Order: sequence, then C-alpha cells, then structure tokens
Amino acid sequence: MLENLGSWRRTHTCGELNINNLNEEVILMGWVQKRRDHGGVIFVDLRDREGITQVVFNPEYNENAHKKAEELRTEYVIAVKGVVSKRPEGTENPKLKTGEIEVMVSELKILNTSKVLPFTLDEYSNVGEDIRLKYRYLDLRRRPLQRNLILRHNLVRTIREFLYKKGFLDIETPFLTKSTPEGARDYLVPSRVNPGKFYALPQSPQMFKQLLMISGFDKYFQIVKCFRDEDLRADRQPEFTQLDMEMSFIDREDLMDLIEEMFVEIFDKVLGLKIERPFPRMSYTEAMEKYGHDAPDTRFEMFLKTINNLVDGCGFKVFADAVKDGGVVKAINAKGGAKFSRKEIDELTDFVCSLGAKGLAYIKINEDGLQSPIIKFLGEDVTNSIVKEMNGEVGDIIFFGAGDEKTVNLYMSKLRLLLGKKLGLIDENKYSFTWVTDFPLLEWDEEEKRYVAMHHPFTSPVDEDIPLFDTDPGKIRAKAYDLVLNGSEIGGGSIRIHRSDVQEKMFSVLGLTEEEREYKFGFFIEALRYGTPPHGGIAFGIDRIASIFAKAESIRDVIAFPKTQKATDLMCDAPSFVDEKQLKELFIKVDLPEDYYKD
Ligand code: AMO
Ligand code: AMP
Repeated sequence: MLENLGSWRRTHTCGELNINNLNEEVILMGWVQKRRDHGGVIFVDLRDREGITQVVFNPEYNENAHKKAEELRTEYVIAVKGVVSKRPEGTENPKLKTGEIEVMVSELKILNTSKVLPFTLDEYSNVGEDIRLKYRYLDLRRRPLQRNLILRHNLVRTIREFLYKKGFLDIETPFLTKSTPEGARDYLVPSRVNPGKFYALPQSPQMFKQLLMISGFDKYFQIVKCFRDEDLRADRQPEFTQLDMEMSFIDREDLMDLIEEMFVEIFDKVLGLKIERPFPRMSYTEAMEKYGHDAPDTRFEMFLKTINNLVDGCGFKVFADAVKDGGVVKAINAKGGAKFSRKEIDELTDFVCSLGAKGLAYIKINEDGLQSPIIKFLGEDVTNSIVKEMNGEVGDIIFFGAGDEKTVNLYMSKLRLLLGKKLGLIDENKYSFTWVTDFPLLEWDEEEKRYVAMHHPFTSPVDEDIPLFDTDPGKIRAKAYDLVLNGSEIGGGSIRIHRSDVQEKMFSVLGLTEEEREYKFGFFIEALRYGTPPHGGIAFGIDRIASIFAKAESIRDVIAFPKTQKATDLMCDAPSFVDEKQLKELFIKVDLPEDYYKD
C-alpha cells in the first residue's frame, strides 16, 4: 500500500550522515538501490543524488517496519524514520561517505513502487547505449552520470561567478534568427505567420554579440545553446553549449590573459588542481608541421617531420612522385615500436588507409639492422639520411605518409595519437593547454575554387596584412586564437573586423556578390558604420571541457539528454513525422521517395 509524504520532510540527504550524528532521529528519502535479507534482518541501500545510506529493518527493533520492508523491491521510492547507529565492528564500508553508520528504522513509508528496470544500475553492467538512451532518465540515476552532471554544474557555476566578478553582463540573444556563418548547415524553422519563410537556429550568437559591442555592452557573456547540422562525431552534438564572450577596446593579449586566469580558477574550484600560467603558444604552421593538426595533443612528444628534401628524386616512386606533385612526405619515429608484429603493422596500415592513405611505408631498426619493404627502392644513402634525421635508434620504427598535404596530415596526425596510446606515452592524468595562434585568415577551397574563412568572416586580419587583400589574400594572417586542451579544440575566437570597409573587402574576397552580401549581412555591415569599437571575443565548448574533466569517452556522457550520432533522440523519438494539418498551416509538402524509410 502506498503512502503519502504527510508531514514528513527529509532531515538529511543520503550522503550526509556520519559518526557525528550518532543517536539522532532522522528522516531520509530516496530509492531502494539494493535490498538484502540477512536471516530476518533486512538491509536497504537507500540512494539519492548525494549518496547511499544503509538503513536497517530489524524485527526486534521494530516489527511493523520490518514486515513492510519485505515488500520492498529495487527502485521503490521510500521514506524512513529512524535512529543513526554505529555499524557493528567489521561491517563498516570505507568506500561510502556514510560507511561507518546505519539507520535503525522505526517507521517506513512506501511512497512509490517501480517496474523492474530494463537494465540494472550497477556501474559495471554492460548494456548497449541505445537502450540506455531510450531510458535516459533511468541511466541518469547511475552514479557516474550523476557525478558528470554535477561536475558540469560546478564548471558552469565557476565560470559564471568568475565572469560576474570581472564585470561581465549575461545577455540573451535570439534562437529564431537568420543564418549565421559558422560554416555548418543550419537548422531551419518554418514560420507559420510568414508562409514560405524560415528562421535559422543560431550556429553561434556571433553577430549578436558583435552588435551588443556596437550598442556599448562591453564585456558580454552567455552560456548558450548553439545548433549545427553537421556530421557528428564523439566530440560533436547537433545542439551543444557554448560559453560565448565578447569585449570591447581590447587586443589579443588582454583576452588570452583573462581566459588563462579563468582556467586557473576553474581548475582550482572544479578539479582542485593548480595549473601553470602562461599557457604555451604555438603557431598554426608549427602545429600542422609537428602534429599534422591544428588541435595538437601536447601531452606527449613524438613529432611528425616533413622529409621532402631527403626524398626528392629518390628511387621510391611513391615518395618522389609525392614531392614532384607538390605534396609531402612526412615521417614519424615511433620510439620503441620495432617490437610491433606484422599483424600490428597491418592493423596500423588498415587504420591509415581508412583515412585516405595509400599505404604505410616503414623502416624498422632492429638489433641486426634495418628492415623495410622500401629500402630496396630508396637505396642505402637516402635510407641512412632518413634514419639520421629521425633520430632512429635500435628498437624504433619509422612510419611514412606520402601524398597531398591535407590527406597526409589527416592520417599521420591520427596515427600519431594511436601510436601514443599504443606505446603508453599519454599520461591520462595530465592536462596540457596550448594556444594555437597565427592562423591564416583564409583557406583555399579546392572544390569551390574560392577562398573560405578559416574561422568566420568577421575575424580581423593582422593590421599590417590588410593591403594583401588586393594582392595575395592567401598570405593574410588572422588575429585568431584557439585554445586546445589535450588535443581537443575547447575554444576559439578572434579580434573582429570593426571597420565596414575591411568587412566589405573580406566578404568580397570570399566571393560573395554585392547582392548576397546585402541579403545576408546588409544589416550587419550597416551597423558597423555607426561607431563600432574595436572588439574581440571567444567561445568555448562547455560539453567538450566537461567531458575532458570527467574523462568521458563521448560528450554524450556530460549532457543530460544527448542525441545519437544520427542526431536522434531515442527517448522521445525526435525528430518525428508531424500531422498533415501542421504541415498545411506551414504550406509545406514533404516529398520523400516512397521507400526512404524502408531498410
Ligand atoms: P567555433 O565554431 O570554433 O567558434 O565554436 C567554439 C567552440 O564550440 C565547440 N563546438 C562544439 N562542441 C560540440 N559540438 C559541436 N558540434 C561543436 N561545434 C563547436 C568547440 C569550439 O571550439 N562564434 C565563434 C566563436 C568566436 O569567434 O567568438 C564560434 O562559434 O569547442
Ligand atoms: P608498394 O611498392 O606499393 O608495395 O609500397 C611499398 C610500401 O610503401 C608499402 O609498405 C606501402 O604500404 C607503402 N606505401 C604505398 N603508398 C604509400 C603512401 N602514399 N604513403 C606511405 N606509404 C605508402
């Protein structure tokens, strides 16, 4: 029989009681995590978000409560009144905060029952993610996920408190808006009252925060949802949360200084760790050369090296051709990797080939000499010069990637990370920050045969490079910076263009016609003409930071209700079809091939 709360209220949480509370009468409420019947005495692990307390139903202590406790099942919701006692010697549980005590129950109220759960909440139980996402509200009862969300709360709270202290204003910006140019696809929302027209959900509040600077709201921030319809990966979600910031009358150094101070406070308050400042800096060019990626994992060394000069015109056609065709040959010395078996090398080769490589040449440096499928083509001299350049020693294996620069960097950077893991070079307890700076402003898009913005089109060029707009746009450097933590881009920003003439140059170099410019950004260029202060800012991926702190494998583990890789919500089954009537109101007709959803 279920009972009501009545006048009962909790005196404590389930994670609170200890030896100092002995003999107090308490009321606890929560879920039955486990019930054990030990020859007449029933023990229940009572759980709430703060922890677990053992409550005891002893027929000799209270017969009534004990009798009722026989009905209890896993995940029933109960309230107990009882007295805090010391656990008998030898039965303490040092793993629990409350492990020295238990509550001898004098009265039990069963507030609700529960169906048998589709999976147990045991931390180690191995259930598929699909079923966990379908019953997300149950999965969220697990301790690791509760810990993650509480950690995330602490992160966001620390950020807010830091920024309030620094005089930042928390200002909201619209979700129903016009497309913003972050480079992904927009999520569109049809307008019923303006048939045929669509809002775009913001990919970031970029233009709004700049407009707020024009309005004079210096020092803005917002912790805000952003929406991007892009291919999802472990560190990407279609809706994710940014800490978005903007300041006026500043340059790069001011912003980087403030951000470092913020992270010192975050590490102290959220993780209890002291971190060193200033954070190291690396240019984009150096990151690409040594790590093959603009978000370098600096927890370990083992760098890539371009060896074009050593293999130019050499006897191994693959290398010689790569250089001749304007590509690169990059090598990496996996120290201690000569022990890799044939099978392991084949696996590494399959790995890089899945990322676009044509093969994975290598030179093993064994006790009894070099071993490699390519020495016969390279010849002894070239081989020796490569081994020397790569500091090859007995026990090492040098891997090579040859081809166009973009592809080689892509798979060699991933290979570096994999080798780092395989060889145990990554200290999982280390936090390694790097600012990546000196990005080019523009990137050449081979498919579209035009320049695209490396960050976004509001990023300011370095002052002295402005004349290059008319002569050599590819050479313009940007006042942009990314903050990288353990190989993950956790934030990015820039000093912005605050002059309308420069902004127009930028749009035109991006190949926007006068009309497109006017249609997409007309209001923004106009706004720049009314006394725009110099300004700049940055945005951080809150989900990414939280997942690094929580050592989670995916950002899904730090989001209460995440989406799958296919951007679906398995719990409420979104996205879903809508009523014909709703579509009619919007003048929308869905035109799918008949068998689209048949697999
Ligand atoms: P950017 O596009 O670099 O910059 O985004 C800022 C940070 O947001 C995080 N992030 C994501 N996290 C999860 N899922 C995603 N799909 C996703 N996309 C981005 C990353 C990234 O570093 N308006 C600019 C910022 C500025 O210039 O001030 C912007 O949005 O951690
Ligand atoms: P092949 O002569 O094609 O058998 O190649 C000899 C070796 O070079 C093999 O170990 C291949 O895996 C490797 N290889 C082939 N193409 C490339 C490439 N583009 N980059 C790096 N290694 C390659």
